[in-house]
Amino acid sequence: MLKIENLTVTYPDQTKGIDDVSLTVMDGESVALIGANGAGKTSLIMSLVGVLPSSGNVFAEGIKLSEDTLSEIRTKIGVVFQNPDDQLFMPTIYENIAFGLRNIEMPEKQIKERIAACLALLKIEKLGSKTALKISGGEKRLVALATVLIMEPAIMLFDEPTAFLDPKARRNLLQVLNALPHTKLIATHDLPFAAETCQRSILIKNGKIFADGLSQDILYDAQLMDKCGVEAIGVYERKLK
Ligand SMILES: Nc1ncnc2c1ncn2[C@@H]1O[C@H](COP(=O)(O)OP(=O)(O)O)[C@@H](O)[C@H]1O
Ligand SMILES: [Mg+2]
Repeated sequence: MLKIENLTVTYPDQTKGIDDVSLTVMDGESVALIGANGAGKTSLIMSLVGVLPSSGNVFAEGIKLSEDTLSEIRTKIGVVFQNPDDQLFMPTIYENIAFGLRNIEMPEKQIKERIAACLALLKIEKLGSKTALKISGGEKRLVALATVLIMEPAIMLFDEPTAFLDPKARRNLLQVLNALPHTKLIATHDLPFAAETCQRSILIKNGKIFADGLSQDILYDAQLMDKCGVEAIGVYERKLK
C-alpha cells in the first residue's frame, strides 16, 4: 500500500510542484494520475522516492519515507522515468538490467536467471543478447521497465509511459502493464491509455487533487477535464466529424 499525507513539494524558487496532497493507493490497485503540463505529476512521482525533497508523510508498505529509510523505500517503490535515456546509462541492455542486482551483490548465476525470466515476461528475449543500446523507442521503454521490474518492487510509478511511443509500441506496453500485478501509479495525459490501464483516476491541477474517482466517471467528463486543461476522451474524434 502507498499512503501519502499532506505531501508538499516546494522548489527553490518557491513554486509548489505539489501542494498538500493526501491519497492512498491500495495493494494491487492501478491509479492514473491525470493533469495538464505543469499540474504536478512529475513532482509527485519524484518526491515519493526522495529524488525531490518534500514535506508531509509518505508510507510505502508501511515504511515511512525519510533520509534513513531512503534505500529501503527504493526497494519498495520502483520508478519508470518519462525518458528511458535517463534510466539506461550502461553500454549494453544486459548490463543495464543487471545493474541494480549487481549493486546488491547478487551472484551472477542468479542474476542471469532473473534477467532471462524478466525478458521473457516482457517478451523481449531477443534484446538480451544485444551488445549496444541501438534499439527503438518502444524497446527502450521496455528495457527501462525491466531495470525496475528486476528489483521486484511492490509499487511501480510510471511517468508518462506512452511518451515517444508509436501506436503499436503503446498497445504492447498497455498489455504489459495490465499483466503486472503490482500496485501502480501511472502519470499520463494519454486518457485512453489511463482508461484501459486504471480503474481509478486522480485529476490534479496546480499541485492539488481536483478529482478522485472511477476512471469511467472522470476521464469522460468533458467539463471536468476542461477545467483542468486536459482534453476529455472523445473530444478530438467529435471535432473530426
Ligand atoms: N525545477 C523546477 N523549479 C521550479 N519549478 C518547477 C521545477 N520543476 C517543475 N516546476 C514547476 O512545478 C509545477 C509542476 O511541474 P511538474 O511536476 O513537472 O508537472 P507535470 O509533470 O504534471 O507536467 C509546474 O508549475 C512547474 O513549472
Ligand atoms: Mg511531467
